[in-house]
Formats: sequence, C-alpha cells, structure tokens
Amino acid sequence: MTSRPRILSGMRPTGPLHLGHWVGALKNWVELQGKYDCFFMVADWHALMSEYEHPAEIRRRSREMVSDWLAAGVDPSRSVIFRQSDVPEHLELYMVLSILSPLGWVERVPTYKEQVREVTGRFLATYGFLGYPVLQAADILLYKADAVPVGEDQVPHLELAREIVRRFKFLYQAEIFPEPKPLLTQEARLLGLDGRKMSKSYDNFVALAEVPEEIRRKTQKMFTDPKRIRMNDPGHPETCNVCHYWKAFAPEEAPRIWEECRTSKRGCTQNKQELSERLIQATEKFRARRSRGDGGSSEADQILRSGAGKAREIAQATMREVRQAVGLG
Ligand code: TRP
Repeated sequence: MTSRPRILSGMRPTGPLHLGHWVGALKNWVELQGKYDCFFMVADWHALMSEYEHPAEIRRRSREMVSDWLAAGVDPSRSVIFRQSDVPEHLELYMVLSILSPLGWVERVPTYKEQVREVTGRFLATYGFLGYPVLQAADILLYKADAVPVGEDQVPHLELAREIVRRFKFLYQAEIFPEPKPLLTQEARLLGLDGRKMSKSYDNFVALAEVPEEIRRKTQKMFTDPKRIRMNDPGHPETCNVCHYWKAFAPEEAPRIWEECRTSKRGCTQNKQELSERLIQATEKFRARRSRGDGGSSEADQILRSGAGKAREIAQATMREVRQAVGLG
C-alpha cells in the first residue's frame, strides 16, 4: 500500500455527464491520481434520495458514468472506482453519524434549504434528503480521506463533515477520522450553452457522449457577444461564451481566436462552427468508449465489482473501529 494522502470524491448518476463535469471535475480527478491514493464513488444512494419516484435509470446511468470516467482517464489500476450501494458500511456509518449530528447542523446546510425550495417536480422535503450531507460525511470518513476534490457548492458539506469528526472525537475519545479538507477545483466554471449556469434542469449542456450532429446543432444556438451585431463590429471575447469555450477546449489556439474576434477577422457563425468541430474532436473518446462491447456496460460492471471488493475491505476495517468506539458489536 502507498502512504500517499488519500482523497475521495463522488458524483450522482442522475443524468448524463457533460462538458462542465469534465472541465470542472473529471480532468482534475485524472491529474490527482498522480499525487494521491484515490477513491472515486458512484453516489447512487444520493441519486435515489432525489430520484426515488423514478429510479429506473439509476443503474444504467451508473454504468455510463463509469464509462465516461474511464474515457476521461480515470484509471482503475491506480484508483478505486466503486458504487456506494455495493458497500453497505456507508449506511451503517451514516446511522452512527446521524445519531450524533444535532438537527440544527443539518437544517442549516444551505444546499438543503435551497433545493427543497427550488427544485420543482420532485418532493424533497423528506427525512432521508435532510440526511444527504450526513451520508456524504460517511462516504468520506469511511475511507479516512484527507481531502475531497469538490466544487465551491460542496464546501458547506465538507464543513459539516469536519464538525462531525470533532464531535465524534469529543464524545467517544476516539481519533479514528482525519478532518477532511476540500480541494477546490482551479478551473473557471464553464457556463451553459445559453449563458446560464450549466444544469440538467435547464437542458443547456453538451453531454460527453453526445453524437456529433447534436453537438453541431447545440453549438449553433449558443449566444455570442451581445454588443457585436455586424461582423465588422469588433468583438469582446471576454464577454462571449463561445470564446470562453475555446479557452477551455483549445487553450493553445484561444489567444489567436480571441484576437481574430477582437479585430473582426472572425465572425460569430464561423466561430461557432469551428468550435463545434473542436468539441466533436475533444469528445470522441467518450463516444468510442460507450460504443465498445454492450454499451460499455460489461467493462463498467467488472470494474465496479473489483472496486467494491477493495473499498469494502477498508470500509469494514473502519467500521470495526467505529463499533468498538460506540459500544456496539
Ligand atoms: N454531493 C456530491 C455532489 O452532488 C456527490 C457526493 C456524494 C460526494 N458523496 C460524496 C462528493 C463524497 C464528494 C465526496 O456533487
């Protein structure tokens, strides 16, 4: 075993992974593999918390998500890739942690209030959904992760996990868990095709395994610099979403493209056309991986099976310590 610091992160299989997941998270995961002992988890229990009325897709989406992770370069020979529901110890630790988490702490988590208020078409004011960040704390603590690569929105969940660690230590005089730190992703956030936040509910994204025709169609509809009406008007690439996509997907070419936009040598239509070809190229590996075998699923299944074995071994060892500390078993 290595003595490198450990990280754990997870994604919920609630929809197709898109360009935002890649730029904002996956690329980072791939790099972190060189420095950390990595655990990457399919958070299917978390998905079920919001999709409990329509669970049919969770299993398929879990496999597709793993296929996309592999295509991005997440490497099962270096990292443990597993599915939360394959390791029942998550729920056992979640129970212990929920017993010692004051109601005020969980009710205060801003994502909870926000989602209950804003998510439409789903009833989220459930007992289970309130426990969302406590289950997330269990995910992290079960593997004694030192750090958790996440986006800004997850920071309150990490703060709760740290408070739970301190309370556990205080109550049971047991130092089982390190306090997990957030590892914030450096990349600027990629906006949706319409310039709003990229989100499944706005349907404003390009999926990683999107077919080329759809990529062309969606890119054509992107908004550009609103101040540039005629082609001869000078462009303002810093306020143009298309130009920001260039920066994210062709960093070497972006300076030239931005300059051509500023000096009216490049029109918006051409800019979008060329961007769509670049995006098609950049996402080729995701389509290729999906079309291998039976939709990539047998490979994903096998990786998840082997990952579950490795994850479970560690999870069971942690739970032996926890049961000891809380006087059970
Ligand atoms: N809440 C995370 C998200 O929506 C997903 C998640 C579940 C997670 N368990 C985790 C992330 C543990 C990091 C660590 O993005």
